[in-house]
Amino acid sequence: MKIYIPVDSAAVSIGANETADAFVRQDAIADAEVVRTGSRGFYWLEPMVEIEHEHRRIGFGPIEAADVPELAQAIAGGGFASHPQYLGDIDHMLREQGQRRMTFARCGVIEPTDWQSFVANGGSAGLRAALDNSGQAIVDAVKESGLRGRGGAGFPTGIKWQTVHDTAAETKYVVCNADEGDSGTYADRMLMEGDPFTLFEGMAIAGVAVGAEHGLIYLRSEYPDAERVLKRALDVARAEGMLGDDVLGSGKSFDIQVRMGAGAYICGEETSLLESLEGKRGLVRFKPPLPAIQGFMGKPTVINNVITLASVPAIMAQGAPMYADLGINRSRGTLTIQLCGNVARPGLYEMPFGVTLDHLINELGGGSASGRPVRTAQVGGPLGAYVPASHFDTPLGYEEMADKKAMIGHGGVVVFDDTVDMMQQARFAMEFCDIESCGKCTPCRVGSVRAQEVIDRIIADDEREANIELLRELCDTMINGSLCAHGGMAPFPVLSALNHFSEDFGVREQAAV
Ligand code: NAI
Ligand code: SF4
Repeated sequence: MKIYIPVDSAAVSIGANETADAFVRQDAIADAEVVRTGSRGFYWLEPMVEIEHEHRRIGFGPIEAADVPELAQAIAGGGFASHPQYLGDIDHMLREQGQRRMTFARCGVIEPTDWQSFVANGGSAGLRAALDNSGQAIVDAVKESGLRGRGGAGFPTGIKWQTVHDTAAETKYVVCNADEGDSGTYADRMLMEGDPFTLFEGMAIAGVAVGAEHGLIYLRSEYPDAERVLKRALDVARAEGMLGDDVLGSGKSFDIQVRMGAGAYICGEETSLLESLEGKRGLVRFKPPLPAIQGFMGKPTVINNVITLASVPAIMAQGAPMYADLGINRSRGTLTIQLCGNVARPGLYEMPFGVTLDHLINELGGGSASGRPVRTAQVGGPLGAYVPASHFDTPLGYEEMADKKAMIGHGGVVVFDDTVDMMQQARFAMEFCDIESCGKCTPCRVGSVRAQEVIDRIIADDEREANIELLRELCDTMINGSLCAHGGMAPFPVLSALNHFSEDFGVREQAAV
Protein backbone atom coordinates (compact mmCIF):
# COMPACT_ATOMS: atom_id res chain seq x y z
CA MET A 1 0.00 0.00 0.00
CA LYS A 2 1.10 3.57 -0.68
CA ILE A 3 0.45 6.49 1.63
CA TYR A 4 0.74 9.92 0.03
CA ILE A 5 1.70 12.95 2.13
CA PRO A 6 2.64 16.38 0.70
CA VAL A 7 6.18 17.66 0.86
CA ASP A 8 4.94 21.09 -0.30
CA SER A 9 6.39 23.81 1.94
CA ALA A 10 2.94 25.03 3.08
CA ALA A 11 2.04 21.51 4.24
CA VAL A 12 5.47 21.06 5.82
CA SER A 13 5.07 24.34 7.70
CA ILE A 14 2.14 22.83 9.60
CA GLY A 15 3.58 19.42 10.31
CA ALA A 16 3.50 17.23 7.15
CA ASN A 17 7.02 15.91 7.84
CA GLU A 18 6.07 14.88 11.37
CA THR A 19 2.95 13.17 10.01
CA ALA A 20 5.05 11.31 7.43
CA ASP A 21 7.58 10.24 10.08
CA ALA A 22 4.78 8.97 12.30
CA PHE A 23 3.45 6.76 9.48
CA VAL A 24 6.85 5.13 9.01
CA ARG A 25 6.75 4.02 12.66
CA GLN A 26 3.34 2.29 12.50
CA ASP A 27 3.53 -1.49 12.91
CA ALA A 28 -0.13 -1.85 11.89
CA ILE A 29 0.82 -0.86 8.33
CA ALA A 30 4.48 -1.87 8.34
CA ASP A 31 4.40 -2.81 4.64
CA ALA A 32 3.09 0.64 3.58
CA GLU A 33 5.30 2.90 1.48
CA VAL A 34 5.17 6.61 2.29
CA VAL A 35 5.31 8.71 -0.90
CA ARG A 36 5.88 12.46 -0.64
CA THR A 37 3.91 14.43 -3.24
CA GLY A 38 3.11 18.05 -3.97
CA SER A 39 -0.06 19.52 -2.50
CA ARG A 40 -3.58 19.21 -3.88
CA GLY A 41 -4.09 22.78 -2.75
CA PHE A 42 -6.66 21.97 -0.05
CA TYR A 43 -4.69 24.05 2.40
CA TRP A 44 -7.34 24.01 5.12
CA LEU A 45 -6.98 20.22 5.22
CA GLU A 46 -3.18 20.06 5.46
CA PRO A 47 -1.40 17.96 6.47
CA MET A 48 -3.57 15.84 4.17
CA VAL A 49 -3.00 12.12 3.78
CA GLU A 50 -4.14 9.95 0.88
CA ILE A 51 -4.22 6.20 0.42
CA GLU A 52 -4.85 4.13 -2.69
CA HIS A 53 -8.02 2.09 -2.43
CA GLU A 54 -9.71 0.28 -5.34
CA HIS A 55 -7.84 2.47 -7.87
CA ARG A 56 -9.02 5.63 -6.18
CA ARG A 57 -7.19 8.06 -3.93
CA ILE A 58 -8.97 8.39 -0.59
CA GLY A 59 -8.13 11.41 1.54
CA PHE A 60 -8.00 12.21 5.24
CA GLY A 61 -7.29 15.59 6.74
CA PRO A 62 -6.02 17.38 8.60
CA ILE A 63 -3.85 14.60 10.05
CA GLU A 64 -1.31 15.62 12.66
CA ALA A 65 1.37 13.24 13.91
CA ALA A 66 -0.70 12.47 17.01
CA ASP A 67 -3.61 11.34 14.78
CA VAL A 68 -1.51 8.82 12.87
CA PRO A 69 -1.68 5.71 15.15
CA GLU A 70 -5.50 5.74 15.13
CA LEU A 71 -5.64 6.34 11.37
CA ALA A 72 -3.09 3.58 10.73
CA GLN A 73 -5.26 1.16 12.71
CA ALA A 74 -8.32 2.23 10.72
CA ILE A 75 -6.46 1.74 7.43
CA ALA A 76 -5.12 -1.66 8.49
CA GLY A 77 -8.58 -2.81 9.65
CA GLY A 78 -10.34 -1.51 6.52
CA GLY A 79 -12.75 0.64 8.56
CA PHE A 80 -11.26 3.94 7.46
CA ALA A 81 -14.51 5.30 5.96
CA SER A 82 -15.82 6.02 9.46
CA HIS A 83 -12.65 7.84 10.52
CA PRO A 84 -13.53 11.42 11.66
CA GLN A 85 -11.07 12.97 9.16
CA TYR A 86 -12.24 10.81 6.25
CA LEU A 87 -12.70 12.94 3.11
CA GLY A 88 -13.53 10.30 0.50
CA ASP A 89 -12.44 10.19 -3.13
CA ILE A 90 -10.20 13.20 -3.82
CA ASP A 91 -10.91 13.31 -7.56
CA HIS A 92 -14.62 13.35 -6.75
CA MET A 93 -14.04 16.26 -4.35
CA LEU A 94 -12.23 18.21 -7.08
CA ARG A 95 -15.06 17.56 -9.56
CA GLU A 96 -17.72 18.56 -7.03
CA GLN A 97 -15.95 21.89 -6.58
CA GLY A 98 -16.05 22.44 -10.33
CA GLN A 99 -12.27 22.28 -10.57
CA ARG A 100 -10.67 21.38 -13.87
CA ARG A 101 -7.09 20.38 -13.14
CA MET A 102 -5.01 20.88 -16.26
CA THR A 103 -1.94 22.83 -15.23
CA PHE A 104 -2.07 21.19 -11.79
CA ALA A 105 -3.20 17.77 -13.04
CA ARG A 106 -0.21 15.97 -11.51
CA CYS A 107 0.43 18.26 -8.53
CA GLY A 108 -0.33 16.28 -5.37
CA VAL A 109 -0.61 13.09 -7.38
CA ILE A 110 3.04 12.19 -8.05
CA GLU A 111 6.35 12.40 -6.28
CA PRO A 112 7.70 15.63 -7.80
CA THR A 113 10.95 14.26 -9.24
CA ASP A 114 9.75 10.76 -10.12
CA TRP A 115 10.07 10.66 -13.92
CA GLN A 116 8.22 7.34 -14.33
CA SER A 117 5.17 8.64 -12.45
CA PHE A 118 5.30 11.88 -14.44
CA VAL A 119 5.20 10.00 -17.75
CA ALA A 120 2.63 7.47 -16.50
CA ASN A 121 0.34 10.41 -15.66
CA GLY A 122 0.55 12.06 -19.07
CA GLY A 123 3.78 14.02 -18.59
CA SER A 124 5.97 14.74 -21.66
CA ALA A 125 3.08 14.07 -24.09
CA GLY A 126 2.84 17.80 -24.88
CA LEU A 127 6.52 18.08 -25.77
CA ARG A 128 6.37 14.90 -27.86
CA ALA A 129 3.40 16.34 -29.76
CA ALA A 130 5.21 19.66 -30.22
CA LEU A 131 8.28 17.92 -31.63
CA ASP A 132 6.12 16.54 -34.46
CA ASN A 133 5.27 20.11 -35.50
CA SER A 134 7.04 23.13 -36.93
CA GLY A 135 7.77 26.10 -34.69
CA GLN A 136 5.06 28.09 -36.46
CA ALA A 137 2.50 25.31 -35.94
CA ILE A 138 3.25 25.31 -32.19
CA VAL A 139 2.88 29.10 -32.04
CA ASP A 140 -0.40 28.80 -33.96
CA ALA A 141 -1.69 26.20 -31.49
CA VAL A 142 -0.86 28.44 -28.53
CA LYS A 143 -2.65 31.35 -30.26
CA GLU A 144 -5.67 29.17 -30.99
CA SER A 145 -5.86 28.02 -27.37
CA GLY A 146 -6.43 31.63 -26.27
CA LEU A 147 -3.80 31.30 -23.52
CA ARG A 148 -2.95 34.69 -21.99
CA GLY A 149 -0.11 35.56 -19.62
CA ARG A 150 -0.95 34.32 -16.15
CA GLY A 151 1.65 36.54 -14.46
CA GLY A 152 -0.88 39.36 -14.44
CA ALA A 153 -0.89 41.34 -17.66
CA GLY A 154 -2.94 38.77 -19.62
CA PHE A 155 -1.07 39.40 -22.87
CA PRO A 156 -1.77 36.69 -25.52
CA THR A 157 1.05 34.15 -25.18
CA GLY A 158 0.94 33.05 -28.82
CA ILE A 159 1.46 36.64 -30.04
CA LYS A 160 4.44 37.06 -27.69
CA TRP A 161 5.93 33.82 -29.01
CA GLN A 162 5.25 34.89 -32.60
CA THR A 163 7.35 38.03 -32.12
CA VAL A 164 10.28 35.98 -30.82
CA HIS A 165 9.79 33.37 -33.54
CA ASP A 166 9.84 36.06 -36.25
CA THR A 167 12.88 37.92 -34.89
CA ALA A 168 15.98 36.55 -36.59
CA ALA A 169 18.90 35.85 -34.24
CA GLU A 170 21.49 33.11 -33.71
CA THR A 171 20.75 32.97 -30.00
CA LYS A 172 17.37 33.27 -28.32
CA TYR A 173 16.26 32.64 -24.76
CA VAL A 174 13.26 31.41 -22.82
CA VAL A 175 13.06 33.04 -19.40
CA CYS A 176 10.64 31.83 -16.77
CA ASN A 177 9.53 34.50 -14.33
CA ALA A 178 9.37 32.65 -11.02
CA ASP A 179 9.72 35.79 -8.91
CA GLU A 180 6.24 35.31 -7.48
CA GLY A 181 6.03 38.42 -5.32
CA ASP A 182 2.32 39.21 -5.11
CA SER A 183 0.89 38.94 -1.64
CA GLY A 184 -1.54 36.04 -1.39
CA THR A 185 -0.09 34.12 -4.32
CA TYR A 186 1.61 30.73 -4.27
CA ALA A 187 0.60 28.94 -7.48
CA ASP A 188 4.10 29.23 -8.99
CA ARG A 189 5.70 27.83 -5.85
CA MET A 190 3.20 24.99 -5.59
CA LEU A 191 3.78 23.99 -9.21
CA MET A 192 7.56 24.15 -8.94
CA GLU A 193 7.60 22.17 -5.70
CA GLY A 194 4.94 19.70 -6.81
CA ASP A 195 5.43 19.11 -10.56
CA PRO A 196 8.63 20.77 -11.84
CA PHE A 197 8.86 18.63 -14.99
CA THR A 198 5.69 20.28 -16.32
CA LEU A 199 7.39 23.68 -16.13
CA PHE A 200 10.47 22.33 -17.91
CA GLU A 201 8.22 20.77 -20.53
CA GLY A 202 6.48 24.10 -21.17
CA MET A 203 9.81 25.88 -21.44
CA ALA A 204 11.16 23.25 -23.84
CA ILE A 205 8.04 23.60 -26.01
CA ALA A 206 8.58 27.38 -26.06
CA GLY A 207 12.22 26.80 -27.03
CA VAL A 208 11.28 24.45 -29.88
CA ALA A 209 8.58 26.91 -31.03
CA VAL A 210 10.74 30.03 -31.22
CA GLY A 211 14.14 28.45 -31.91
CA ALA A 212 15.74 28.96 -28.48
CA GLU A 213 18.16 26.50 -26.91
CA HIS A 214 18.69 28.19 -23.55
CA GLY A 215 16.21 28.52 -20.72
CA LEU A 216 16.55 30.42 -17.44
CA ILE A 217 14.31 30.24 -14.40
CA TYR A 218 14.51 33.41 -12.30
CA LEU A 219 13.46 32.15 -8.89
CA ARG A 220 12.77 34.33 -5.88
CA SER A 221 15.19 33.78 -3.03
CA GLU A 222 12.32 33.21 -0.60
CA TYR A 223 11.65 29.82 -2.23
CA PRO A 224 14.53 27.58 -1.06
CA ASP A 225 12.41 24.42 -1.19
CA ALA A 226 11.46 25.12 -4.81
CA GLU A 227 15.13 25.69 -5.61
CA ARG A 228 16.07 22.28 -4.22
CA VAL A 229 13.27 20.51 -6.10
CA LEU A 230 14.01 22.31 -9.38
CA LYS A 231 17.71 21.49 -9.24
CA ARG A 232 17.07 17.82 -8.46
CA ALA A 233 14.46 17.66 -11.23
CA LEU A 234 16.84 19.29 -13.74
CA ASP A 235 19.31 16.41 -13.28
CA VAL A 236 16.54 13.87 -13.83
CA ALA A 237 15.12 15.70 -16.87
CA ARG A 238 18.59 15.78 -18.47
CA ALA A 239 19.14 12.09 -17.79
CA GLU A 240 15.75 11.29 -19.33
CA GLY A 241 16.36 13.36 -22.46
CA MET A 242 13.77 16.08 -21.86
CA LEU A 243 16.58 18.59 -21.52
CA GLY A 244 20.10 18.73 -22.92
CA ASP A 245 21.09 17.55 -26.39
CA ASP A 246 18.51 14.82 -26.86
CA VAL A 247 15.22 16.60 -26.29
CA LEU A 248 13.24 13.36 -26.11
CA GLY A 249 15.11 11.77 -28.97
CA SER A 250 14.68 14.52 -31.56
CA GLY A 251 18.32 15.61 -31.38
CA LYS A 252 17.12 19.16 -30.64
CA SER A 253 18.89 20.94 -27.83
CA PHE A 254 17.34 22.84 -24.93
CA ASP A 255 18.64 23.25 -21.41
CA ILE A 256 17.64 25.24 -18.33
CA GLN A 257 19.51 26.99 -15.53
CA VAL A 258 18.03 28.20 -12.25
CA ARG A 259 19.12 31.70 -11.16
CA MET A 260 18.23 33.06 -7.73
CA GLY A 261 16.85 36.56 -7.16
CA ALA A 262 17.83 38.60 -4.13
CA GLY A 263 14.49 39.59 -2.67
CA ALA A 264 13.36 42.67 -4.63
CA TYR A 265 9.66 42.73 -5.58
CA ILE A 266 10.37 44.86 -8.64
CA CYS A 267 12.52 42.08 -10.13
CA GLY A 268 9.22 40.40 -10.99
CA GLU A 269 8.77 43.17 -13.58
CA GLU A 270 10.19 41.65 -16.73
CA THR A 271 12.80 44.28 -17.62
CA SER A 272 14.24 44.62 -14.12
CA LEU A 273 14.25 40.82 -13.97
CA LEU A 274 16.43 40.86 -17.09
CA GLU A 275 18.75 43.45 -15.53
CA SER A 276 19.05 41.27 -12.44
CA LEU A 277 19.68 38.15 -14.56
CA GLU A 278 22.48 40.03 -16.28
CA GLY A 279 24.05 40.71 -12.89
CA LYS A 280 22.95 44.33 -12.61
CA ARG A 281 20.78 46.22 -10.14
CA GLY A 282 17.09 45.50 -10.70
CA LEU A 283 16.10 48.76 -12.41
CA VAL A 284 13.20 48.92 -14.84
CA ARG A 285 14.19 49.40 -18.51
CA PHE A 286 12.35 51.59 -20.98
CA LYS A 287 10.15 49.70 -23.47
CA PRO A 288 10.53 49.51 -26.45
CA PRO A 289 12.52 47.55 -27.27
CA LEU A 290 10.32 44.72 -26.08
CA PRO A 291 12.12 41.77 -24.48
CA ALA A 292 10.65 39.65 -27.28
CA ILE A 293 12.99 41.53 -29.62
CA GLN A 294 15.86 42.54 -27.32
CA GLY A 295 15.66 40.73 -24.02
CA PHE A 296 18.29 38.77 -22.07
CA MET A 297 21.75 39.92 -23.22
CA GLY A 298 20.03 41.88 -25.98
CA LYS A 299 18.67 38.71 -27.65
CA PRO A 300 15.07 37.85 -28.50
CA THR A 301 13.55 36.40 -25.34
CA VAL A 302 10.30 34.73 -24.41
CA ILE A 303 9.51 35.80 -20.84
CA ASN A 304 6.54 34.08 -19.29
CA ASN A 305 5.32 33.36 -15.81
CA VAL A 306 5.54 29.81 -14.37
CA ILE A 307 1.83 29.09 -14.76
CA THR A 308 1.73 30.36 -18.35
CA LEU A 309 4.56 28.03 -19.37
CA ALA A 310 3.19 25.13 -17.33
CA SER A 311 -0.19 25.49 -19.09
CA VAL A 312 1.30 24.83 -22.52
CA PRO A 313 1.99 21.05 -22.23
CA ALA A 314 -1.71 20.27 -21.70
CA ILE A 315 -2.61 22.46 -24.68
CA MET A 316 -0.16 20.62 -26.93
CA ALA A 317 -1.13 17.18 -25.60
CA GLN A 318 -4.90 17.60 -25.58
CA GLY A 319 -5.30 20.12 -28.38
CA ALA A 320 -5.86 23.87 -28.52
CA PRO A 321 -9.64 23.56 -29.12
CA MET A 322 -10.06 21.62 -25.87
CA TYR A 323 -8.41 24.49 -23.96
CA ALA A 324 -10.21 27.20 -25.90
CA ASP A 325 -13.54 25.55 -25.11
CA LEU A 326 -13.11 26.40 -21.44
CA GLY A 327 -13.71 29.85 -20.01
CA ILE A 328 -15.67 32.94 -21.01
CA ASN A 329 -15.36 35.55 -23.76
CA ARG A 330 -11.67 36.47 -24.22
CA SER A 331 -10.56 34.60 -21.09
CA ARG A 332 -9.99 31.02 -22.20
CA GLY A 333 -8.83 27.95 -20.34
CA THR A 334 -8.37 27.66 -16.61
CA LEU A 335 -7.36 30.15 -13.95
CA THR A 336 -5.34 28.99 -10.97
CA ILE A 337 -6.99 30.92 -8.19
CA GLN A 338 -5.17 31.27 -4.91
CA LEU A 339 -7.75 31.92 -2.22
CA CYS A 340 -6.45 33.16 1.11
CA GLY A 341 -6.73 35.78 3.82
CA ASN A 342 -9.72 35.61 6.17
CA VAL A 343 -11.45 32.64 4.53
CA ALA A 344 -12.51 29.30 5.97
CA ARG A 345 -11.19 27.08 3.16
CA PRO A 346 -8.08 28.70 1.67
CA GLY A 347 -6.20 26.98 -1.10
CA LEU A 348 -5.58 26.61 -4.79
CA TYR A 349 -8.61 26.21 -7.04
CA GLU A 350 -7.99 25.60 -10.75
CA MET A 351 -11.26 26.55 -12.45
CA PRO A 352 -12.34 27.55 -15.94
CA PHE A 353 -12.60 31.36 -16.18
CA GLY A 354 -16.07 32.64 -15.37
CA VAL A 355 -16.51 31.58 -11.75
CA THR A 356 -17.80 34.46 -9.62
CA LEU A 357 -16.10 35.75 -6.49
CA ASP A 358 -19.31 35.03 -4.61
CA HIS A 359 -19.19 31.34 -5.52
CA LEU A 360 -15.47 31.18 -4.88
CA ILE A 361 -15.42 32.93 -1.52
CA ASN A 362 -18.78 32.02 -0.03
CA GLU A 363 -19.47 28.57 -1.49
CA LEU A 364 -16.08 26.97 -2.12
CA GLY A 365 -14.22 29.05 0.45
CA GLY A 366 -16.94 28.73 3.10
CA GLY A 367 -17.04 32.47 3.86
CA SER A 368 -14.73 34.16 6.32
CA ALA A 369 -12.61 32.17 8.78
CA SER A 370 -13.69 34.56 11.54
CA GLY A 371 -17.36 33.85 10.90
CA ARG A 372 -18.02 37.56 10.36
CA PRO A 373 -19.50 38.98 7.13
CA VAL A 374 -17.06 39.22 4.22
CA ARG A 375 -16.63 42.88 3.29
CA THR A 376 -14.14 42.83 0.44
CA ALA A 377 -11.48 40.85 -1.40
CA GLN A 378 -8.30 42.21 -2.89
CA VAL A 379 -7.84 40.50 -6.23
CA GLY A 380 -4.58 40.44 -8.15
CA GLY A 381 -1.98 41.12 -5.48
CA PRO A 382 -0.95 44.28 -3.64
CA LEU A 383 -1.57 46.41 -6.74
CA GLY A 384 -5.05 44.95 -7.26
CA ALA A 385 -8.33 46.65 -6.44
CA TYR A 386 -10.42 45.89 -3.37
CA VAL A 387 -13.61 44.44 -4.79
CA PRO A 388 -16.64 45.17 -2.59
CA ALA A 389 -19.05 42.34 -1.75
CA SER A 390 -21.67 44.09 -3.92
CA HIS A 391 -19.51 43.26 -6.98
CA PHE A 392 -18.91 39.63 -6.06
CA ASP A 393 -21.30 38.56 -8.83
CA THR A 394 -18.69 39.60 -11.41
CA PRO A 395 -17.38 36.58 -13.34
CA LEU A 396 -13.62 36.19 -13.16
CA GLY A 397 -12.46 37.16 -16.64
CA TYR A 398 -9.87 39.73 -17.70
CA GLU A 399 -12.29 42.15 -19.38
CA GLU A 400 -15.13 41.47 -16.94
CA MET A 401 -12.92 42.49 -14.03
CA ALA A 402 -11.51 45.48 -15.92
CA ASP A 403 -15.09 46.70 -16.44
CA LYS A 404 -15.31 46.94 -12.65
CA LYS A 405 -11.95 48.76 -12.48
CA ALA A 406 -10.38 45.61 -11.03
CA MET A 407 -8.05 42.94 -12.34
CA ILE A 408 -7.25 39.27 -12.03
CA GLY A 409 -3.47 39.68 -11.89
CA HIS A 410 -1.76 36.45 -10.95
CA GLY A 411 -4.99 35.03 -9.51
CA GLY A 412 -4.52 35.87 -5.84
CA VAL A 413 -7.74 36.56 -3.88
CA VAL A 414 -7.26 37.87 -0.33
CA VAL A 415 -10.46 37.98 1.73
CA PHE A 416 -11.28 40.51 4.47
CA ASP A 417 -14.19 40.57 6.90
CA ASP A 418 -16.10 43.62 8.11
CA THR A 419 -13.46 44.61 10.67
CA VAL A 420 -11.04 45.77 7.97
CA ASP A 421 -10.09 49.46 7.97
CA MET A 422 -9.94 50.44 4.31
CA MET A 423 -8.12 53.71 4.95
CA GLN A 424 -5.28 51.74 6.53
CA GLN A 425 -5.34 49.32 3.57
CA ALA A 426 -5.05 52.30 1.21
CA ARG A 427 -2.09 53.58 3.19
CA PHE A 428 -0.51 50.14 3.11
CA ALA A 429 -0.70 50.09 -0.73
CA MET A 430 1.33 53.30 -0.93
CA GLU A 431 3.76 52.17 1.76
CA PHE A 432 4.31 48.96 -0.20
CA CYS A 433 4.85 50.95 -3.41
CA ASP A 434 7.36 53.17 -1.63
CA ILE A 435 9.34 50.29 -0.09
CA GLU A 436 9.48 48.25 -3.31
CA SER A 437 9.96 51.13 -5.80
CA CYS A 438 13.09 50.78 -7.95
CA GLY A 439 13.43 54.57 -7.74
CA LYS A 440 13.85 55.24 -11.44
CA CYS A 441 10.87 57.54 -11.98
CA THR A 442 9.50 60.38 -9.86
CA PRO A 443 5.74 59.66 -9.78
CA CYS A 444 6.36 56.31 -8.09
CA ARG A 445 9.46 57.11 -6.03
CA VAL A 446 8.18 60.42 -4.63
CA GLY A 447 4.45 60.03 -5.23
CA SER A 448 4.14 56.98 -3.01
CA VAL A 449 5.81 58.83 -0.11
CA ARG A 450 3.65 61.96 -0.58
CA ALA A 451 0.53 59.76 -0.78
CA GLN A 452 1.28 58.26 2.64
CA GLU A 453 1.66 61.77 4.07
CA VAL A 454 -1.67 62.81 2.55
CA ILE A 455 -3.41 59.72 3.94
CA ASP A 456 -1.89 60.42 7.34
CA ARG A 457 -3.45 63.89 7.23
CA ILE A 458 -6.82 62.34 6.33
CA ILE A 459 -6.45 59.93 9.26
CA ALA A 460 -5.68 62.94 11.52
CA ASP A 461 -8.83 64.67 10.15
CA ASP A 462 -6.71 67.53 8.84
CA GLU A 463 -8.59 69.23 5.94
CA ARG A 464 -10.09 65.88 5.09
CA GLU A 465 -12.04 66.76 1.90
CA ALA A 466 -9.16 68.74 0.40
CA ASN A 467 -6.69 65.97 1.14
CA ILE A 468 -8.94 63.31 -0.37
CA GLU A 469 -9.08 65.42 -3.52
CA LEU A 470 -5.29 65.77 -3.44
CA LEU A 471 -4.92 62.01 -3.01
CA ARG A 472 -7.06 61.41 -6.11
CA GLU A 473 -4.91 63.85 -8.12
CA LEU A 474 -1.75 62.16 -6.93
CA CYS A 475 -3.17 58.77 -7.95
CA ASP A 476 -3.93 60.18 -11.39
CA THR A 477 -0.34 61.41 -11.74
CA MET A 478 1.06 58.04 -10.72
CA ILE A 479 -1.21 56.12 -13.09
CA ASN A 480 -0.36 58.29 -16.06
CA GLY A 481 3.23 59.22 -15.28
CA SER A 482 4.89 56.06 -13.93
CA LEU A 483 7.32 54.13 -16.07
CA CYS A 484 6.07 50.66 -15.11
CA ALA A 485 3.06 48.93 -13.58
CA HIS A 486 4.47 49.17 -10.05
CA GLY A 487 3.86 52.91 -9.70
CA GLY A 488 1.14 52.84 -12.35
CA MET A 489 -1.02 50.37 -10.48
CA ALA A 490 -0.37 51.15 -6.81
CA PRO A 491 -3.19 53.74 -6.96
CA PHE A 492 -5.77 51.06 -7.86
CA PRO A 493 -6.20 49.65 -4.35
CA VAL A 494 -6.29 53.23 -3.03
CA LEU A 495 -8.94 54.39 -5.50
CA SER A 496 -11.04 51.27 -4.97
CA ALA A 497 -10.95 51.91 -1.22
CA LEU A 498 -11.96 55.55 -1.77
CA ASN A 499 -14.70 54.71 -4.27
CA HIS A 500 -16.29 51.74 -2.52
CA PHE A 501 -15.56 52.38 1.14
CA SER A 502 -15.70 56.17 1.44
CA GLU A 503 -17.21 55.82 4.93
CA ASP A 504 -13.81 54.56 6.15
CA PHE A 505 -12.32 57.89 5.05
CA GLY A 506 -14.86 59.72 7.17
CA VAL A 507 -16.66 61.09 4.13
CA ARG A 508 -20.17 60.03 5.10
CA GLU A 509 -19.79 61.20 8.72
CA GLN A 510 -18.45 64.55 7.62
CA ALA A 511 -21.24 65.02 5.07
CA ALA A 512 -23.79 64.36 7.82
CA VAL A 513 -22.35 67.03 10.13
P1 NAI B 1 2.58 44.81 -20.19
O1 NAI B 1 1.15 44.94 -20.53
O2 NAI B 1 3.50 45.94 -20.42
O3 NAI B 1 3.19 43.58 -21.01
C1 NAI B 1 2.67 42.32 -21.04
C2 NAI B 1 3.65 41.40 -21.72
O4 NAI B 1 3.48 41.41 -23.12
C3 NAI B 1 5.11 41.75 -21.53
O5 NAI B 1 5.84 40.55 -21.42
C4 NAI B 1 5.49 42.49 -22.81
O6 NAI B 1 6.87 42.45 -23.07
C5 NAI B 1 4.69 41.68 -23.78
N1 NAI B 1 4.36 42.31 -25.07
C6 NAI B 1 3.60 43.41 -25.29
N2 NAI B 1 3.46 43.63 -26.63
C7 NAI B 1 4.14 42.62 -27.25
C8 NAI B 1 4.35 42.28 -28.63
N3 NAI B 1 3.84 42.98 -29.62
N4 NAI B 1 5.09 41.19 -28.89
C9 NAI B 1 5.61 40.45 -27.89
N5 NAI B 1 5.43 40.72 -26.59
C10 NAI B 1 4.70 41.80 -26.27
O7 NAI B 1 2.60 44.35 -18.67
P2 NAI B 1 3.80 44.13 -17.64
O8 NAI B 1 4.31 45.43 -17.16
O9 NAI B 1 4.80 43.16 -18.18
O10 NAI B 1 3.06 43.40 -16.45
C11 NAI B 1 2.15 44.07 -15.61
C12 NAI B 1 1.37 43.05 -14.85
O11 NAI B 1 2.22 42.33 -13.97
C13 NAI B 1 0.31 43.65 -13.99
O12 NAI B 1 -0.92 43.56 -14.64
C14 NAI B 1 0.34 42.82 -12.71
O13 NAI B 1 -0.85 42.09 -12.58
C15 NAI B 1 1.45 41.87 -12.91
N6 NAI B 1 2.26 41.68 -11.71
C16 NAI B 1 2.50 40.39 -11.33
C17 NAI B 1 3.22 40.08 -10.20
C18 NAI B 1 3.43 38.66 -9.80
O14 NAI B 1 3.94 38.39 -8.69
N7 NAI B 1 3.07 37.68 -10.61
C19 NAI B 1 3.79 41.16 -9.39
C20 NAI B 1 3.50 42.48 -9.87
C21 NAI B 1 2.75 42.72 -11.00
FE1 SF4 C 1 10.73 52.04 -10.79
FE2 SF4 C 1 8.37 52.68 -9.68
FE3 SF4 C 1 9.14 53.92 -11.89
FE4 SF4 C 1 8.46 51.30 -11.96
S1 SF4 C 1 7.11 53.01 -11.52
S2 SF4 C 1 10.21 52.30 -12.96
S3 SF4 C 1 9.21 50.65 -9.95
S4 SF4 C 1 10.19 54.00 -9.88
